[in-house]
Amino acid sequence: MFYPARMSSRPNTVAIVLAAGQGTRMKSTLPKVLHPVCGWPMVHHGVAAALGAGCAEVIVVVGHGRELVEKSLSAAFGDRVRFAVQPQQLGTGDAVRCGLEAVAPGADRVLVFYGDAPLIEASDLGAMLAAEGRLVVATCRLANPFGYGRMLRDGEGRLVGIREEKDASAAEKALTEINPGVYVFARDFLASALTKLEPKNAQGELYLTDVVAIAAAQGAHGTPVEARAEVLVGCNDRAQLFEAELTMRERIHTGLRKAGVTVAAGALVDAGVVVEADVMIGANAVLRGKTQVKAGARIDVGCVLEDVLVEEGAYLKPYSVAQQSVVGPRAQVGPFAHLRPESHLGEDVHIGNFVETKKTKLAKGAKANHLAYLGDGVVGERVNVGAGTIFCNYDGFQKHTTVIEDDAFIGSDSQIVAPVTIGRGAYVGTGTTVTKDVPADALALSRVKQDNKEGYAARLKARFKAAKEAKK
Ligand code: UD1
Ligand code: CA
Repeated sequence: MFYPARMSSRPNTVAIVLAAGQGTRMKSTLPKVLHPVCGWPMVHHGVAAALGAGCAEVIVVVGHGRELVEKSLSAAFGDRVRFAVQPQQLGTGDAVRCGLEAVAPGADRVLVFYGDAPLIEASDLGAMLAAEGRLVVATCRLANPFGYGRMLRDGEGRLVGIREEKDASAAEKALTEINPGVYVFARDFLASALTKLEPKNAQGELYLTDVVAIAAAQGAHGTPVEARAEVLVGCNDRAQLFEAELTMRERIHTGLRKAGVTVAAGALVDAGVVVEADVMIGANAVLRGKTQVKAGARIDVGCVLEDVLVEEGAYLKPYSVAQQSVVGPRAQVGPFAHLRPESHLGEDVHIGNFVETKKTKLAKGAKANHLAYLGDGVVGERVNVGAGTIFCNYDGFQKHTTVIEDDAFIGSDSQIVAPVTIGRGAYVGTGTTVTKDVPADALALSRVKQDNKEGYAARLKARFKAAKEAKK
């Protein structure tokens, strides 16, 4: 569950986030608001910002793909998000009307914004909430205003309406002041204004934006609040999605650098990943999900980590891949290692190149430096697993556990056929197939004894050569 840091608590304010549209311009079966930006579905960013700004709760208006949207948000935010269903997508005004029906009686202020605006942060919403008035509207100037609603002002500079691109005259299209799509309403005013909306426009929709003209007609002009241009990116298609991704990536990188992390260009760090000071993140390293990296660790070039805890001073060498695992303090991994789910490396463990681990625990100081598969294992302290060792954990029906106790030594090219236990301090000779338990301090050997036939190599070669000649 994700709990954003709260700026302040606003018990009377509820946020409504609109997320019922299909997002046709994405050309996707995935609902628009679930397309990820830096690893999070875009609507999650907005919801986190609203909660961070102190809203008592967030109501997300769902419609298209609602099961998926609800599931995704509930998994991340639990009961701090509720849903209102908009049965038909009749426009943003209709969507807010649906959302408002779900707002608790005690709330008298309503913050509204769109689910396709992932760059909005709690501080942006906080600035809006700090303004007074029954209608507060974000505004912004853009060199290229195409596609956005334009802010209409009268001779005295007061807001008198918002015109959508599709409804705008040539003169209106030339306006560069646009509607970023963030509003704060007095609840009573919003409820009454929504009843006055009419679908008299190019799209035949009920536009939320018409509320501004309705207020002006009542002599109550909206209060404009300047918004940062970068929070504007409404992600309607994948080109805008990518722009938002780039902006957020830079934001994450800058935040990390200021917090004492060295981040190479091209690293991809998801929102929500936690990195402590004095960590180095190499080029093209990818840190996803709930990954956490503790102080002094180093994640080298091309590593891909998903939900991994990397402890102090650990070193993941280039191109190592890990999922749902723990890398202990000062452990070393890679290059080219693969830690599959539930791998747990203790302090100072070494996992070398082309080693794959899965559901395996290695205690302090254990080493598997080259070419091995360690699946379903429990490996004790200081154990040395030689090159080419395989834990044969699967008989085609069930998985079985290999236990290797402290200080045991596993010679290279051994196969450990689980379930089996190799006792403390035992020694498994190179090339052994272990099929039964090895007692503590015992030597296990299963290979055939070596037999040297003196001078036989020369005789053998002569015989093979003769056979080849005879064929010609
Ligand atoms: C909207 C604004 C426009 C503003 C722009 C900012 C209106 C009429 N226009 O345009 O002034 O400049 O955002 O990005 O509000 N949605 C519903 N139900 C519906 C329709 C839409 O829930 O019936 C949701 C969508 O899922 C989306 C959001 O509302 O998340 C905005 O809808 P969208 O179609 O993207 O509006 P824009 O054309 O971008
Ligand atoms: Ca939009």
